[in-house]
Amino acid sequence: MKSDIRVGVLGAGRIGRLHIEHLQYRLKGVEVAAVSDVYKEAADKAASDFQVPLSFQDSLEVIRHKDVDAVIICSSTDTHAQFIEESARAGKHVFCEKPIALDLAEIDRALEAVDQAGIKLQIGFNRRFDANHRRVWEHLRQGTIGKPHILRIASRDPSPPPIGYIKVSGGIFLDMMIHDFDMARYLIEDEVESLYATAGVMVDPEIGKAGDVDTAIVTMKFKNGVIGTIDNSRQAVFGYDQRVEVFGEKGMVSSENFRPNAVTVSGPEHVWQDLPFNFFMERYVDSYLIEMQEFLQAVAGSTEPSVTGIDARVPVVMGLAAKKSFKEGRPVSLDEISP
Ligand SMILES: NC(=O)c1ccc[n+]([C@@H]2O[C@H](COP(=O)([O-])OP(=O)(O)OC[C@H]3O[C@@H](n4cnc5c(N)ncnc54)[C@H](O)[C@@H]3O)[C@@H](O)[C@H]2O)c1
Repeated sequence: MKSDIRVGVLGAGRIGRLHIEHLQYRLKGVEVAAVSDVYKEAADKAASDFQVPLSFQDSLEVIRHKDVDAVIICSSTDTHAQFIEESARAGKHVFCEKPIALDLAEIDRALEAVDQAGIKLQIGFNRRFDANHRRVWEHLRQGTIGKPHILRIASRDPSPPPIGYIKVSGGIFLDMMIHDFDMARYLIEDEVESLYATAGVMVDPEIGKAGDVDTAIVTMKFKNGVIGTIDNSRQAVFGYDQRVEVFGEKGMVSSENFRPNAVTVSGPEHVWQDLPFNFFMERYVDSYLIEMQEFLQAVAGSTEPSVTGIDARVPVVMGLAAKKSFKEGRPVSLDEISP
């Protein structure tokens, strides 16, 4: 009988703990052998909460450990590229949270190490694994709406992160809209040629003082002619607003917000519904499970992850192009960022 895949998880923060819980209790054929966090108490707490036998402060000990077959990188973004390179050197397959880095040279070095080592790499663009976004994708593939003409993505958080986070996040285009850039490429199955960004500070002046914006729209032109928009806000007072729509020659396909309470109350003056799910941990929880299942299948057998190096790189190019477009007040071709 084939034994379980043993993984090591680097970073025991919000997303690290979620993946550990799924790996330990919701997925079959896998066990978490070790966890690390530079803040050792966090690693120890995750180990004790989720019955992980080994806990380290130094992530290299996890990467190089003989009991670890594959590495799940959930530490802060500025550590991802180095940990991918170290994992490649150790011959371990990698699941890495988005993004690999905010700098293209760093991403390229990490991807080169992956290629040379021949390891498998999956990137945590989880929204592709959301059941309803995936149904939109399936309808597009089946031709239900014929040739797509317009893509619209609305993606708004319930409330802004702490200012300390904003300062090191890379800004709204690289931190938040990066997921939507991935969704745009996933649905249209083509690359964006050029984009134009407009944005402002409308939610919290402190975000502006930290050098970022909190409200942004990007319009995109794909190489195949499809045009699209993404709009982001750091604060939707009614909850996590996640909607996708593709309009085309034979109709339209869209995926709407989910509500934890699906009851509708209708009275003489109002029809009442509950608010949408509050944030990504609730709204996308199953997508995190399904993406991990795909990674484990790739580690166990001959399949390749569907979200890999190029999918990590292009949204960063798009984010850098959006930053440049906003700064310079003009449309920017992606070739200007990465010829
Ligand atoms: N796919 C998604 O939807 C999604 C959601 C949230 C976060 N993320 C990504 O996951 C990563 C972590 O985000 P988070 O929200 O969990 O942040 P977090 O701050 O809650 O957790 C990060 C953890 O990494 C630890 N850490 C920092 N440097 C380390 C190192 N050198 N070795 C080991 N641990 C180290 C920190 O101490 C912290 O506990 C980020 O890259 C973020 O972009 C992705």
